[in-house]
Amino acid sequence: MKRIMITGALGQIGTELTLKLREIYGVENVLATDLRRPEEGNPVLDGPFETLDVMDHDKMLAIADSFKPDTMMHMAALLSATAEKNPVFAWNLNMGGLLNALEVARKLEMQFFTPSSIGAFGPNTPKDNTPQTTIQRPTTMYGVNKVAGELLCDYYHHHFGLDTRGVRFPGLISHVKEPGGGTTDYAVEIYFKAVREGKYASYIDKGTFMDMMFMDDAINAIIELMEAPADKLVDRNAFNVTAMSIDPEMVAASIRKFIPEFELTYEVDPVRQGIAESWPNSIDATEAKKQWGFNPKFDLDKMTEEMLTAIRAKEQK
Ligand SMILES: NC(=O)c1ccc[n+]([C@@H]2O[C@H](COP(=O)([O-])OP(=O)(O)OC[C@H]3O[C@@H](n4cnc5c(N)ncnc54)[C@H](O)[C@@H]3O)[C@@H](O)[C@H]2O)c1
Repeated sequence: MKRIMITGALGQIGTELTLKLREIYGVENVLATDLRRPEEGNPVLDGPFETLDVMDHDKMLAIADSFKPDTMMHMAALLSATAEKNPVFAWNLNMGGLLNALEVARKLEMQFFTPSSIGAFGPNTPKDNTPQTTIQRPTTMYGVNKVAGELLCDYYHHHFGLDTRGVRFPGLISHVKEPGGGTTDYAVEIYFKAVREGKYASYIDKGTFMDMMFMDDAINAIIELMEAPADKLVDRNAFNVTAMSIDPEMVAASIRKFIPEFELTYEVDPVRQGIAESWPNSIDATEAKKQWGFNPKFDLDKMTEEMLTAIRAKEQK
């Protein structure tokens, strides 16, 4: 991986991914693209940027043909909670955008990465220590898109020999860019509210466990997987990755180690609660560890400390 093109680069993952890749591979070697140009001052504009709607195959091909990347990272998508509000639009964007990105990568012989999600599991998937290969009958449009996307990426690898790679991300926690409408967003909001107001009303209920990971670990996982020697990979797409399985009470307890007066209450949102209950409590990341050395560094308390410190610094600016 030497020269990289990213779609959806202004999102929660794309923003930090762009900055980290530019640090490692050189600013001029990482092209960020998104639906709209961000406001001046956005750090993503410190390097190459193009506006690109991933539904526009011809423009995507033209941009890639001119930048000459060896790697495509496809991040543009509609996330779980937003997709449920507009399922037909979600299908068209999540599947159409992915197909265009795969086609461009195939035509220009690029390496390819796109993330799947724990949303690719469903209510009859084993809930605890969920294996990588197991029952996948998701009940959300997002989940349907993610399962189909995993299979499509496998197909492009087996049928066309495209070097596709991918992980199933859990909820990702970060302080640089706000999350884009996922079910696990509470675990980001709670930190911002803790610093700003000392309290938070959670839309996810007490005792609802989901997998999570700090963004630094997620970005490192992408880079490690993309740089892993191909002959070490038995699987290609849909690697389970996670750093912790947590519920709102656990996050609150961790925050109270730094802000003792922090208060957690509940205003449960039935839609997002329903999605959360259809997902695993905890997934098993053994294959990612074995095949390409996945090794997350942040546990809950280390992540809490980092989140609170960074948000406080942001608030003081
Ligand atoms: N953030 C998480 O917790 C998480 C967890 C699991 C999987 N994922 C997956 O990772 C990927 C990126 O997620 P994210 O959290 O950064 O999402 P996000 O919603 O924060 O960002 C998505 C980006 O895509 C852009 N976009 C939307 N429609 C577009 C279009 N038609 N053309 C071009 N760009 C478009 C948006 O402007 C946005 O900048 C998605 O595939 C998502 O399903 C995310």
